Amino acid sequence: MERFLELSSLYGPVWKFWNGLSIELVVSDLDLVGTIFNNTQDYDITHRPEIAIVIGTNLVTMRGQAHKRERKILNPAFHISKLQCMASIAISAAVNTLARCNRLAESGQIFHLAQFFGRTASEVICQASFGVDFECQEKSGSAILDFMANTANGIENNRKPLTMGTFIYNIFSGATYRAIKALRQFQKEVRRLIGLREAEIKNAKTPEEKQELLSKDLLGLLFLKKEEGELTFEQVLQESMAFLAAGYETTTTWLQFTIVMLCQHPKVEAQLIEELDRVIGERTPTWELIKQCNYLHNVLQECLRMHPPIPVVDRQTMRDVQLGKVHLPKGTGVFVPPIVIHNNPKFWDEPEMCKPERFENKTNFHNTLIPFSMGGRNCIGQHFAWMEAKIVLAHVLREYKFTLLPGQDLTRKSIVSMYFKDGVKVKVEHRKGE
Ligand code: HEM
Repeated sequence: MERFLELSSLYGPVWKFWNGLSIELVVSDLDLVGTIFNNTQDYDITHRPEIAIVIGTNLVTMRGQAHKRERKILNPAFHISKLQCMASIAISAAVNTLARCNRLAESGQIFHLAQFFGRTASEVICQASFGVDFECQEKSGSAILDFMANTANGIENNRKPLTMGTFIYNIFSGATYRAIKALRQFQKEVRRLIGLREAEIKNAKTPEEKQELLSKDLLGLLFLKKEEGELTFEQVLQESMAFLAAGYETTTTWLQFTIVMLCQHPKVEAQLIEELDRVIGERTPTWELIKQCNYLHNVLQECLRMHPPIPVVDRQTMRDVQLGKVHLPKGTGVFVPPIVIHNNPKFWDEPEMCKPERFENKTNFHNTLIPFSMGGRNCIGQHFAWMEAKIVLAHVLREYKFTLLPGQDLTRKSIVSMYFKDGVKVKVEHRKGE
């Protein structure tokens, strides 16, 4: 990642590089970025059948008119007004996370931060998308965690530069094979669970009960679209899988990097704890209270700026196009790196500094802050992700303090989402004992 930033600062807002056998473009010029993201007819997501094999045919992998149609159907499920109903899912996962913090604090055990928050994020997304939590936080080995580990390996394998024959290699190599096998097993289980919800809806005794089942989570909202004749059962299944694929690792990364950022900036952490104590105090942290924590919002925003969970977004030209001064033949890969834009001193004062206060009273960023991308393919789950991150961190940070083990190599890397090269080891202790 650091090398990518270096090259961008050396070569400027538009540069190209060889990726295997093809030339690809990296664009961080704000006007050109707007052109790329706002014109999905000319620039759509990169065609990667090998990734669709791993995560299915859904919003994440569809292109063109099929994507537009599906997106229009799904948009209402993610409207900010639907969050209130789903806050209880994140609160329940946060409470389970507190129980794990407690055990780790009592035992003084050292643990990996990504795995720790991976369990929290998987509980939230599974509960919202499939109506069950798979006991992600308690079981040491479970179908869902195997699925995620194998999916990540399969995708990593498939994201290696395309050279002649890599497609065939990707399809038949072990990691992809294991990813497909895990996907099949997992889909079988998910099909069963989704079938149970469908039966529950059919057998609801009162209109109120039915309404509750159709609105309590993302799965319910997908079934509402099925009731309205806009989705089939198969699409409900595929889209639930999309939410898992897109919402698990990204949120885990965000939570992990925020904790590391706070450990590295004690003054920011102290100000955040002061706010949580002032706004929530001894009360139960409800979504209504957490929403009032402005500094928490700014801390999370600063983390997205410094460490966008998806540091580089890719597109492919759908026909021959002229982008600024450059002619791009059909099929050219175009990379837009939020991480480069977010760290450009032209747009951000002292970008290397962690300053959450830079977001005070600032809501309009004119393409300079794009962690959730922009335009017709931006992140449909962003409000959901904000709610989840705020609820989990408000619960955990009020009560527990994380400490990084000294001397760790915190080099950042990225395949699709960002991670620390060697993971991050931490300890946790009760804050009240401070
Ligand atoms: C920190 C958390 C998250 C980040 C940073 C993030 C980031 C992104 C980005 C950058 C894209 C656009 C990719 C592109 O333009 O090609 C995207 C798309 C998407 N995200 Fe998220 N995401 C997050 C959480 C979530 C969650 C929690 C969900 C679901 C509940 C979700 C569902 C999706 C879906 C379905 C898409 C595809 C949208 C489309 O193509 O129409 N994301 N996300």
